[in-house]
Amino acid sequence: MSKQFDVVVIGGGPGGYIAAIRAAQLGFNVACIDEWKNEKGGPAPGGTCTNVGCIPSKALLQSSEHFDHANHHFADHGISTGTVKMDVAKMVARKDEVVKQNNDGILYLLKKNKVTFFHGRGSFVKAVEGGYELKVAGAAEETVVAKQVIVATGSNARALPGVPFDEVNVLSNEGALRIGAAPKKLGVIGSGVIGLEMGSVWRRLGTDVTILEGLPTFLGAADEQIAKEAKKAFDKQGLKIELGVQVGDIKVGKKGVNVAYTNAKGEALELAVDKLIVSIGRVPNTIGLNAESVGLQLDERGAIVVDGDCKTNLSGVWAVGDVVRGPMLAHKAEDEGVAVAERIAGQHGHVNFATIPWVIYTSPEIAWVGRTEQQLKADGVKYKAGTFPFLANGRARALGDTTGMVKFLADATTDEILGVHIVGPMASELISEAVVAMEFKASAEDIARICHAHPSLSEATKEAALAVDKRTLNF
Ligand code: FAD
Ligand code: NAI
Repeated sequence: MSKQFDVVVIGGGPGGYIAAIRAAQLGFNVACIDEWKNEKGGPAPGGTCTNVGCIPSKALLQSSEHFDHANHHFADHGISTGTVKMDVAKMVARKDEVVKQNNDGILYLLKKNKVTFFHGRGSFVKAVEGGYELKVAGAAEETVVAKQVIVATGSNARALPGVPFDEVNVLSNEGALRIGAAPKKLGVIGSGVIGLEMGSVWRRLGTDVTILEGLPTFLGAADEQIAKEAKKAFDKQGLKIELGVQVGDIKVGKKGVNVAYTNAKGEALELAVDKLIVSIGRVPNTIGLNAESVGLQLDERGAIVVDGDCKTNLSGVWAVGDVVRGPMLAHKAEDEGVAVAERIAGQHGHVNFATIPWVIYTSPEIAWVGRTEQQLKADGVKYKAGTFPFLANGRARALGDTTGMVKFLADATTDEILGVHIVGPMASELISEAVVAMEFKASAEDIARICHAHPSLSEATKEAALAVDKRTLNF
């Protein structure tokens, strides 16, 4: 006799486990199926984000930043350390422990919310009366029946054609987070989010890092002025970024990897590295889902086709997160999961794509919400811009980190905030004020009139809002 549930979620990443918890909170009988295994073969829910994404990358970024500070910034504070050493194995073990704490935390949360957890691969079998029959292939095989199914099967790293990931020499995000000793030379293909974050980790540990980017512009999705400022900082740090390259033959040998490429000037060059990270985007994952058995519609990229409410072409089947359209971000996946659970309950779940923040956790951090200056120009919107440099912020000076700026873009007529872009210290935290402001349709003047604590980095946000009206007080 198969087990019956109101809602079954396939995938236990941020989209899936959050959807399961929210559905359980709303009174449904819920199951969550996730196949991720830890090194002992046990369950490791949390998906890409927890196991090989957001969490482990931020753990390594933190460790390598401490090392960088000890080497290059402690002396400014009068602290002498002698030779600072990095035990990479310990850094990686700490990262693994942080991941495990998160896996355990999610298992605890599922239990607390009375969500039944299945460890194994979930797949569609057939449509049945009032729902769908699903198979769970784990240590044992089980069959479950769900009235409503939420698919949250995430994404996988995209490989270069003909160059599969071996995770020893040619690394996806998985191998990149497991490198056991600082390589002498590291190559990265793609100067997107992963390339910059992982490149920064190893550059800080003394590795000679070269990033080869196909596009002629750096961080095209970010505001141009902000991207330029960030690039200046990365250049100064010694992170080598070559734009407008065309990657050719890649030869993997015993000692490393040789990348043939043509640079922006058309010169044929070669890059010999110990390891190569390929971070050229991710592809939606529906492997093993048996989508065809029920006629679940996929698009040409392999993403599950959904409407604005995350409804698929099948009644009672929803999909959220990286496996559908939209930015591949954990918080977007979570918010879609919550919204779908609420829609199943007859409520009006909502995700505002216009106010989803982006953060790149490099040093300086880069964060933004809303439209860039180049997008506003392309859209023909009349806008006012205001910027404020961290150089003129007292807290940034006290921290010893004055790189970058806050930039506001506001409607020229109504003063409504249209975009906020930050490059600098703690941009990841500062951006939430801008998200709240935009969600409430605030004007730049609203932020300029709000009392901000002194001394704090958030005063740079207030000053940038004042700059929209050309009336900064401290610059
Ligand atoms: P996933 O997290 O991929 O989870 C999908 C889960 O479903 C996995 O556990 C998988 O094993 C399971 N699964 C798949 N198929 C089946 C099946 N048939 N049966 C059972 N289980 C199945 N985003 C941010 O917002 N901030 C960051 O700082 C950030 N850093 C990142 C760093 C790296 C290196 C990478 C690679 C990504 C990062 N991301 C970040 C992106 C973020 O990880 C994803 O957007 C997010 O994990 C998507 O969540 P999801 O639930 O859709 O899918
Ligand atoms: P990305 O889309 O951020 O960047 C890929 C880069 O590779 C682009 O600049 C692209 O122009 C370049 N590229 C593509 N093909 C190429 C080729 N053949 N040769 C040279 N360059 C090429 O993808 P990335 O870095 O792989 O990350 C995947 C996703 O994971 C991100 O888009 C993001 O959604 C998520 N992520 C989010 C993080 C965060 O929020 N802090 C951190 C890391 C990942």
